[in-house]
Amino acid sequence: MKYQCPPGMKDLVSEAALFRKLENDFMETLLNSGFQEIRTPMLEAKELFCRSVGEESDIVSKEMFETLDGLVLRPENTAAIMRAVVANQSLIPSNLCYFAPQFRKERPQKGRLRQFYQYGFELIGEAAPEAEIKSLILINQLFAKWNLSQYEIQVNYLGNTEDRKKYLSVLTKFLQDNKNSLSVKSQSRLTGNVLRILDSKEELDVALLKSAPKILDYLGPESQKEWQLFLELAQLAKIKLTINPYLVRGLDYYTGVVLEVVDLSNNLGSQNALGGGGRYDGLSQALGGPALSAFGFAGGVERLILALNLSEIKTNSEKIGLISNEAETIPLFMELKNKFATLNIDINFNYTLGFKKMFKRADKINCTKVVIYGSNEREQGIVKIKDMKTGTETIVSGRLLDLDLSTLG
Ligand code: HAM
Repeated sequence: MKYQCPPGMKDLVSEAALFRKLENDFMETLLNSGFQEIRTPMLEAKELFCRSVGEESDIVSKEMFETLDGLVLRPENTAAIMRAVVANQSLIPSNLCYFAPQFRKERPQKGRLRQFYQYGFELIGEAAPEAEIKSLILINQLFAKWNLSQYEIQVNYLGNTEDRKKYLSVLTKFLQDNKNSLSVKSQSRLTGNVLRILDSKEELDVALLKSAPKILDYLGPESQKEWQLFLELAQLAKIKLTINPYLVRGLDYYTGVVLEVVDLSNNLGSQNALGGGGRYDGLSQALGGPALSAFGFAGGVERLILALNLSEIKTNSEKIGLISNEAETIPLFMELKNKFATLNIDINFNYTLGFKKMFKRADKINCTKVVIYGSNEREQGIVKIKDMKTGTETIVSGRLLDLDLSTLG
């Protein structure tokens, strides 16, 4: 039997260094901005996501990997973090961040995986609109660090429960009245959460939705005030936003401002959401915790890599290979590597292979120089250094550990 990586999942080898770099960049930015890292378990109770993301969401209704004992691989991190905060209330207030794998049993395609990484952050206990503005500034800072400029931040305001109730009845009436112009899939959603229909990408629906009522026209005075203040502050902070009155996001826990970062580079195909987030003031109480304001964002690492058009990172430091035909040399090589910790030294050669094969391997992994210290060299009291570009060999007299940096650097 041939064992393969499960569908929609990847072995990261050549991309691993790129993931490491993106994680380091992300953590450096967030930790310097007063955030604390949080790592939650990969498995959570299924019920947690039913109560937070919502029974009718795509994520919960069809995309969870479930174990026999009622646990699921987490499809996202926000609910898990709120679960951790409710269990440990000394974390209120806190700014938490993560770079972690998530799991959704989706149909795999470009930019859509079953195991994917998210970089995300949650501002727990922070009221609107400060948390929103702080988050938007951070998102722009991160993208500037990654030299990503072709993106747009779309925002909408979902209001409070009252506003949404009013809007839902108007929207439902509009959709019922125009039922025949909706796609079959959206028609079936008319009896469930009709807000989801606004997310539809079906051509028929997109055409009809252009004339659908907008939630922004149904906000009560309090929500109006908060939304306007948010827009004014964003303008003062010079944050460019695009209002998308039909942006609802597919997760039930959102309340006020929601946002989505959309890629404009065309490198992503149809999965063009680089990240998304919003306010979720009701989530703590839904999970049995205190009334708590909260706002957060998460971006997809694989989609970021697609947008940046990067597949792996090129290391520009010169690599030096160490080869020998004697096992006794290995500890000496380890010492040499420690002595020259600033150099990129590779001793991952198998002394039983013979010199020819070891040179071939050194070439394959792009060594610019190779230090040869075999039985002959040891007996003659010399070390040979081969320049892999020119093929010339330099002979240095003395023992291996006497080499100085200038001969290798
Ligand atoms: P989300 O919109 O479901 O939000 O996911 C955020 C981002 O994760 C997406 O915009 C996308 O870049 C990436 N992503 C999602 N699904 C996949 C997939 N199957 N393959 C590859 N990338 C994917 C959340 O998860 C919320 N927890 C965000 C949040 C944080 N809201 C408040 N705080």
